[in-house]
Amino acid sequence: MTSLPPLPPSADAPVGVFDSGVGGLSVLRHIQAQLPRERLLYFADSAYAPYGDKTEREVVERSLQIAAFLIERGAKALVVACNTATVAAIQTLRAHYPAMLLVGVEPGLKPAAALTRNGMVGVMATGRTLAGDKFLQLREQIGGASKATFLLQACVGLVERIERGELDGEATLDMLDRYLAPLLAQGIDTLVLGCTHYPFVQGAIEQVLARRGAQAVTLVDTGAAVARQLTRLLAGAGRLREAHADAEADAASLHAYTSADAATLALGFARLLQLAPPVQESRLASHSQLIA
Ligand code: DGL
Repeated sequence: MTSLPPLPPSADAPVGVFDSGVGGLSVLRHIQAQLPRERLLYFADSAYAPYGDKTEREVVERSLQIAAFLIERGAKALVVACNTATVAAIQTLRAHYPAMLLVGVEPGLKPAAALTRNGMVGVMATGRTLAGDKFLQLREQIGGASKATFLLQACVGLVERIERGELDGEATLDMLDRYLAPLLAQGIDTLVLGCTHYPFVQGAIEQVLARRGAQAVTLVDTGAAVARQLTRLLAGAGRLREAHADAEADAASLHAYTSADAATLALGFARLLQLAPPVQESRLASHSQLIA
């Protein structure tokens, strides 16, 4: 007996969003604001965070497992709300799921090149993002087209702090100061937040900039642009969720999953977005055979 191919997900199906931890919430908040009707699934791979110090192969493997998990739960689109996973894995994800609507996140070099007045742009990101071929190509392409100079700063340890909820306080300010001082010394006027965790320390970054008399530096976060790209893709595929007459059927929803501890992710949602979605723990089995 031949089985029929699976039906494509309907417009009512959820959008899957994932990150190594809570960083993707800085993208999720823009998706919720721009697409308030959509059903959302969020996966935080906190048992494997940070991705920044994993090998490219490990990040690709985790991304494939999480994508499979979200697609099994009916996702009609996937948002890789993590610069590190996008740089490492988006091409492999596209090859594995050619029919899937896929949106990645990359450091906002292009908007920064348009915003800078003196051509000096700082880029804060994880070491893995900054070492990835995809990022190096982006840097070459935008640098060549715009004459902007990009000064790269790997922020080792910052994701872990944000995961722990240490968004301000002297230890976080000190760490940020250590990373920002060399960029400021070279005269940057624009600073790219090249990791989805970093918008959650925007206040602390602004404090450090102010202490160093550099409050005119413009910060670039791509969360809103990612949500716009998702909107375009869903609209183009006819999969934007429509209004339902019945209030219950109409309601948007948000479900969260974590590979670590549910209470910790619930705390992250409360602290960062003032939300209390249901959170389930899900330890993904190893799928290393997914990588050829
Ligand atoms: N939010 C991820 C990013 O955008 C953090 C990576 C990590 O876990 O190190 O790169």
